[in-house]
Amino acid sequence: MARATSRADALGESSRLSEAEIAVHWREEELYAPPAEFVAQANLTDPQVMERFSLAHFPECFREFGELLSWDRKWTTTFDSSRAPFYRWFVGGKLNACYNCLDRNLEQYRNKAALVFVGEPEEEPPVSITYQELFVRVNELAALLRDEVGLQAGDRVTVHLPMVPELPITMLACARLGVVHSVVFGGFSGESAGRRAADSGSRVLVSMDGYYRNGKFLDHRPAADLAVATAKSEGQTIDTVLLWQRHPGKYLSSAKLVEGRDRLVNDLLKKYRGRRVDPVSLPAEAPLFIMYTSGTTGRPKGCQHAVGGYLAYVTATAKWIQDIHPTDVYWCTADIGWITGHSYIVYGPLALAATSVLYEGVPTYPDAGRLWRIAERLGVNIFHTAPTAIRQLRRLGPDEPKKYDLRFKTMTTVGEPIEPEAWLWFYHTVGKGRAVVTDTWWQTETGGVLCSTKPGIDRMKPGSTGPPLPGIFPAIMDENGREVPAGSNRAGNLVIRNPWPGLMSTIWGDAERYKSTYFSKYNKRPNSKDWRDWPYFAGDGAMQAADGYYRVLGRVDDVINVAGHRLGTKEIESACLTVPEVAEAAVVPIADELKGRVPELYVTLRPGVTVSAEIERKVVHAVETEIGKIARPKAVHFVADMPKTRSGKIMRRVLAAISNTMEVGDVTTLANPDVVEAIRVQVQGKGKVATQAAPEDIAKFGERD
Ligand code: WTA
Repeated sequence: MARATSRADALGESSRLSEAEIAVHWREEELYAPPAEFVAQANLTDPQVMERFSLAHFPECFREFGELLSWDRKWTTTFDSSRAPFYRWFVGGKLNACYNCLDRNLEQYRNKAALVFVGEPEEEPPVSITYQELFVRVNELAALLRDEVGLQAGDRVTVHLPMVPELPITMLACARLGVVHSVVFGGFSGESAGRRAADSGSRVLVSMDGYYRNGKFLDHRPAADLAVATAKSEGQTIDTVLLWQRHPGKYLSSAKLVEGRDRLVNDLLKKYRGRRVDPVSLPAEAPLFIMYTSGTTGRPKGCQHAVGGYLAYVTATAKWIQDIHPTDVYWCTADIGWITGHSYIVYGPLALAATSVLYEGVPTYPDAGRLWRIAERLGVNIFHTAPTAIRQLRRLGPDEPKKYDLRFKTMTTVGEPIEPEAWLWFYHTVGKGRAVVTDTWWQTETGGVLCSTKPGIDRMKPGSTGPPLPGIFPAIMDENGREVPAGSNRAGNLVIRNPWPGLMSTIWGDAERYKSTYFSKYNKRPNSKDWRDWPYFAGDGAMQAADGYYRVLGRVDDVINVAGHRLGTKEIESACLTVPEVAEAAVVPIADELKGRVPELYVTLRPGVTVSAEIERKVVHAVETEIGKIARPKAVHFVADMPKTRSGKIMRRVLAAISNTMEVGDVTTLANPDVVEAIRVQVQGKGKVATQAAPEDIAKFGERD
């Protein structure tokens, strides 16, 4: 691949940057045009769209999003900022999210698959659930929740389930009643679920006996006991635990049912066979769900999303960015327990009458070809995944996709910046050069995508998320609230200058924290009701190139400050990945008397490659040439595996703790807690090393991972 030559070492330039900015050393990448075949069928090809959604047309431009939904009563005011920065969208309108995802699709698509469930055991055939069947099951469950459990609109329910159809069924049944669901990622511990249940004030927990993960049947039921006990210790009583069964009719947990508290959903449902429940008509600003941000330390923040604005926003963006048509077979490999799954497995795709695929297991079980076999068998034509999965699949089976008849028209990545090397593999080997790639930047708080190329219009640039979506107006600001000149390739804090319908309404139970975390930083007039005074602080570092494309550098709290030079973690890691033998890289700061902080590297290699001084030299050389001598790592640790969250993000926080001989903290929520001790021994030696007190920036490093 022809790529622009490495830019000159930018050190001289970076020394002029303010503290707030991050020295940027990326090189420009070649652009890729969307294939004509894709453009011919794309939902969004109108070049006028940016003009239609220009600032002059804000906020009324978003009527177009609202109009994608079916309303019981049309809204009277598109946007209300009288309580800025607590905004309301589509005020006066009434609707129901479940109705929009199910009822309204029945007439045309009754017999079409809404969900296709693929269990992890490969001998289990995929299960298709039609719109009719999903409608029936959701109605029966809604009747049960209302009449058996006594839930009503506004109540909160904590849902701690794996990736099985019962999860979206539970969410939609709640949505039908106006009950606020708070889904906690199934891989999180019972304690995490319990803390979130306490925060949201849930008296009902929905769980399951067990599920398949990595070739094993995991007993999930003990987590429910822990959740109830933890909630109790925080003053919240959970009086009902509703238990689904992975194999209906069989209860496969070793834990006994607790009399009076635990109810087997499949038994109870018999009583509700054939029952229908009218969807509860809700004001647009009523809460649809709470989603806790994925922070592993600190009190979790419950992002509260509104029925009308959220659903309009995810429906419009799923249509324009994932390019979903009702005829598509769409597969997002995220877990529904994260915002990506809420927005782009459940609500967006179903509101568009798509067929949405759900996979229970890990991407590499039993081997690196599993995802490609599923895609081939189901005829998936839209594929949505994360850079971490891409890197892992490239590492384990770089040529594997070539063995399968993959026909993706579009592919999406989300969750972290993607290194150009990984992007190019995804584009050429998985997409076979025929699929559009959209790199979508957004957050739990933002509800849906904020930056991405428009797949039928814009050219793609590896490693860059692209321009903002229509109606979204970002800026890069320095620490003092001055805007960095647009298109100047200079880094700073990414902010969004205007509100949009997908923005969360508030933090559940903590409005002050909502304001202070996201809006206080750049607000100069605290009493202002004008949205222009309340830029949204995203907490990410980014830069904008001359062509208007944004490149996200990672969380601002992940920056490594070497002798006053703020280095983005992602670009150092990207430099490592230019060495062909390297599969994954993670960089952490370690305290240094002279320079304040210096980077230390953790690297995994591709299978079959053995560690050598030669590879180490290559890695150090790559960092020095791509970024500069300033970023030269103090050490390179070749590890067998990286500590990862269950969503696949590398836990830099844990690596930083090991490098700095600090306590690693709670690692029980990791996908692979065992690797932590192995890495600690490798880095610190066998004996237990006395732990140091943590300097604040290092203690907080990677907190959001
Ligand atoms: C990061 C996931 C670069 C970013 C939807 C953000 C990204 C955090 C991208 C939110 C991307 C997400 N490029 N970075 N395309 N997408 N991020 O709340 O740091 O789980 O702030 O939402 O992930 O993570 P969250």
